[in-house]
Amino acid sequence: MRQALAALTAALTLALASSVSAQSMTVGFSQIGSESGWRAAETTVTKQEAEKRGIALKFADAQQKQENQIKAVRGFIAQGVDAILIAPVVATGWDAVLKEAKEEKIPVILLDRQIDAPDSLYLTAVTSDQVHEGRVAGEWLVKDVGAKTCKVVELQGTTGSSPAINRKKGFEEAIAKTTNIKIVRSQTGDFTRTKGKEVMESFIKAEGGGKDICAVYAHNDDMAVGAIQAIKEAGLKPGSDIKVVSIDAVPDIFKAMAAGEANATVELTPNMAGPAFEVLAAYLKDKKEPPKWIQTESKLYTAKDDPMKVYEAKKGLGY
Ligand code: AHR
Repeated sequence: MRQALAALTAALTLALASSVSAQSMTVGFSQIGSESGWRAAETTVTKQEAEKRGIALKFADAQQKQENQIKAVRGFIAQGVDAILIAPVVATGWDAVLKEAKEEKIPVILLDRQIDAPDSLYLTAVTSDQVHEGRVAGEWLVKDVGAKTCKVVELQGTTGSSPAINRKKGFEEAIAKTTNIKIVRSQTGDFTRTKGKEVMESFIKAEGGGKDICAVYAHNDDMAVGAIQAIKEAGLKPGSDIKVVSIDAVPDIFKAMAAGEANATVELTPNMAGPAFEVLAAYLKDKKEPPKWIQTESKLYTAKDDPMKVYEAKKGLGY
């Protein structure tokens, strides 16, 4: 009886200690901006996940500029936050500010994008395998076109960002196994709908009206949605005259898929903060070191997956 009571008291003390530490935690979040539907959902989910845990979240929107992110991180350090989340707009240039956070013993977690810096400078990175995402998109196209000659145009993400670099690499690896599929044009569309449309218009023009373009590979769904618009305005049919394959799995791409205007997408969860807060709580409580990379899933969706059902299911997940 006495033993049971002691065990119960210990369990209660532990539960109380962890809930107190989560409730009193202040976390700074340097977000890139709101370039895409996926990004907006990530912001929503991060705020929800913080609220669920009683974490005070200090949010800073960097408007796509690394200098704003660095300024925000320095501000969080000066305020003495318990931890910092960064969704890094580009991969390079982080060492100095991460060293400053480390000197102040403030753990940093990277969300959704990787960086070129020693991993001793951050606690962990919660991201997908972006090379794999590109590979999945490329393999889908390889299978879909078979032996046909296929000229692909590519809409890249933000220049210098890890998803732009890695999604390109993975896709190129997949199509390199064939001789009939080639990327004929490739340019950044900055992960936005507007730029995706604009660049697709220029690709269509440069390719003599677009009749010879077999597919567009967009590094995110928003650019794909912009490209779909451009294809329609050029008098062609997206999804059949020009195949559309992209990454993110935001609700709008499923609407396009249901209309036969998009063909495939690779899912990226907007919930990077949930796993981040879990490992952070364990780290702050008893210094439990998480793995340096927490990998999220990358699932392929095509028109066979009942797009309208997926569209409905996606709503409420931050979208
Ligand atoms: O880093 C993740 C990428 O950034 C998403 O695929 C894209 O939509 C976003 O803006």
